[in-house]
Amino acid sequence: MERTTPEVILTDFEKDIVEGLTDFPKHLSSKYFYDAIGDALFQDIMEMPSYYLTRAEHDILKAHKKEIVALFKNTGPFDLVELGAGDGKKTKVLLRELSDQWCDFTYVPIDISENSLKKLTRSLHHEMPNVAVDGFQGTYFNALKDLHQRDQKRKVILFLGSNIGNLAHEKAIAFLKGIRELMLPKDILLIGFDQKKNPQVILDAYNDQEGITAAFNKNILRRINRETDGDFDIHQFLHWEVYDPENGTAKSYLVSKIAQHVHLKKLRLEIYFKPWETIHTEVSQKYDDDMVNWLGKEAGLRIKTSFQNANGAFKSYVFSL
Ligand code: AVJ
Repeated sequence: MERTTPEVILTDFEKDIVEGLTDFPKHLSSKYFYDAIGDALFQDIMEMPSYYLTRAEHDILKAHKKEIVALFKNTGPFDLVELGAGDGKKTKVLLRELSDQWCDFTYVPIDISENSLKKLTRSLHHEMPNVAVDGFQGTYFNALKDLHQRDQKRKVILFLGSNIGNLAHEKAIAFLKGIRELMLPKDILLIGFDQKKNPQVILDAYNDQEGITAAFNKNILRRINRETDGDFDIHQFLHWEVYDPENGTAKSYLVSKIAQHVHLKKLRLEIYFKPWETIHTEVSQKYDDDMVNWLGKEAGLRIKTSFQNANGAFKSYVFSL
């Protein structure tokens, strides 16, 4: 494992690859799943019968749109800021309702992907021409800081999809604290939390028979191959999902089926895998009210109210200072 490239400036992705694949046990961050292929695979995941999260949250927003919009409207004009807007399908339920009620607001979708932001902005101009859209390409905190510094306009912040579940508790608390520091007393924060439930239902959501989640997980190796001139043999890795019903943590792994060497040419990095050695790639945390209360308290946020879907599989919590 000789590396002699001190003069080369590495990207964050490259640094994380080196760090994660030379660590023991090996790990990679799920935030790197989402290149163009990963985005498309995640779209397919959301269509799968077993992946209940997106439909459950969509149902909540549909069923409770009047109450939710009443909370948003509260005291006049606001920015509706969405962290990781994606295709905006669920948010459109709320945007439609806000627009029907002639609310004075600007929709500020924040996404790391310029491409998906453009698509979303274009489709909104067609579908809801009277909704003001002011997208922000970048990371969540840069965008929030920018808004915070720009004016004192009230903010309603959305973080949907149980994306928070990708952060282990300590990171989730740090993330929530970061948001809280940029919130004003009248601002609110709506977050979707996937709930603890029958463990089989959770395993099935991340372990589909079609193999779409497996392809999604393995795509990170394809991305590494492409971006670092690497030679991962995707077929020599298994997608493996575990769910621990005690702490509510679902984890995804890639498991090496054989002893193998992988060479990442651009990083001048050679990695050895023992047979059945793992790469931990994702956490998808499941919650209950006690856990969400605890996270809120640790971050200095108060739960104002919450909404759930018919079978309680998913809940949306509204926080304020
Ligand atoms: C987009 C992070 C909410 O963890 O459920 C789907 C990503 N991973 N199937 C999740 C994902 C495997 C998803 N989030």
